[in-house]
Amino acid sequence: MCLDLCLVKERFLVTGGSRLVGTVRVAGAKNSVLKLMAAALLTEGRTTLTNCPEILDVPLMKDVLEGLGCTVHIDGSVVTIDTPAEIKSDADFDAVRQFRASVCVLGPLTSRCGRAVVALPGGDAIGSRPLDMHQTGLEKLGAKTHIQHGAVVATAERLVGTRIELDFPSVGATENILTAAVLAKGTTVLDNAAREPEIVDLCEMLCEMGARIEGAGTSTITIEGVAKLHPTTHEVVGDRIVAGTWAYAAAITGGDITVGGIAPRHLHLPLQKLRVAGADVETFATGFRVKMTGRPQAVDYQTLPFPGFPTDLQPMAIGLATVSEGMSVITENVFESRFRFVDELLRLGADASVDGHHVVVRGKEQLSSTSVWSSDIRAGAGLVLAALRADAVTEVHDVFHIDRGYPNFVEQLNSLGAHVERVS
Ligand code: UD1
Repeated sequence: MCLDLCLVKERFLVTGGSRLVGTVRVAGAKNSVLKLMAAALLTEGRTTLTNCPEILDVPLMKDVLEGLGCTVHIDGSVVTIDTPAEIKSDADFDAVRQFRASVCVLGPLTSRCGRAVVALPGGDAIGSRPLDMHQTGLEKLGAKTHIQHGAVVATAERLVGTRIELDFPSVGATENILTAAVLAKGTTVLDNAAREPEIVDLCEMLCEMGARIEGAGTSTITIEGVAKLHPTTHEVVGDRIVAGTWAYAAAITGGDITVGGIAPRHLHLPLQKLRVAGADVETFATGFRVKMTGRPQAVDYQTLPFPGFPTDLQPMAIGLATVSEGMSVITENVFESRFRFVDELLRLGADASVDGHHVVVRGKEQLSSTSVWSSDIRAGAGLVLAALRADAVTEVHDVFHIDRGYPNFVEQLNSLGAHVERVS
């Protein structure tokens, strides 16, 4: 699916000054549902996913799977994928190039077809995103890989389990190695694996499909290869980044938001940071409440792989720092160019300066409305939150980025008392 020109031109008009109060429920995680959809390639038959978020990336992934021979139906929060006995191994078409997450078909195609050609997307606004660890992992399993004509090509007679140690706990590399190793011959031990809740969700679904996996959620995952998997019905884990965005929205606006549909342990550190900033945070079995009275206090942040502070919530943390009392230092350790959106915050009058992978922010009482441009999903959401503390109407452009990750964002903001309008 090509992004419609009308969508590209849409923008939000955000009127600052509202205190966000009320209850929201988050849907399944974007960073999980796309990988679970790709995992459906591993077996013939009908896979059903529930609690799927209604975001632009889901129909994009539908196009990718249909290009590989599957039939996909999206019915609100339920996605069904019918995978035929024979699938295509060639994912070198436009839908794949549209978004980076499509690279998660590499593992399933290599293990199911013994061959995969997956188009590589262009540059990314948050920094370079190489695939060296994905390739090395597949090569350790016995595949040969190379980059050719803008696509990653992997071939393997038969994948064979082995020990793999990642240089860095990459989410995407962990996922591709997992989905390749589940059908390999023998046992794979993956060290320094990513521990994100979305990895655990993928492992749970693979186990429901008949895979044998131990250690999901720890740094060492053991995968005993099986000959065949079977389809399943699986509920997507709640989106901790969307939930965290609401938590920071409450703190930024001096509001009081209760968030459902999320395990609070998936946001332990972001919620702890909000407590340090002065918020009252209550947690429940499947949600939490964040209430901020008075001006937030400045807090320092360092992004790290889970269970560290998520890089995807870094824009929200900077947004909070811009209106907090005191000076915050935010250090980005995961993506090299994730501070590009700070220039947009400067246009809103924030006092922030970037030095390498640190940004120093001196908080102000209020920001000053103007036009700003989203450069990626999370930067866009961070700008909307900052705009809620500006003195008039802020125009946030290129909101198709936000639509890729936040279901019904405007409707949910307005249900909490914000004044946000979507215009073309
Ligand atoms: C996923 C998430 C993204 C999140 C990120 C980190 C999806 C669709 N996206 O991205 O929202 O911000 O995890 O939590 O799930 N790297 C290499 N070589 C590789 C692979 C990664 O150098 O082969 C580097 C990347 O450039 C980056 C770091 O490792 O600097 C982390 O990347 P990774 O964990 O792989 O993130 P993604 O899976 O791309």
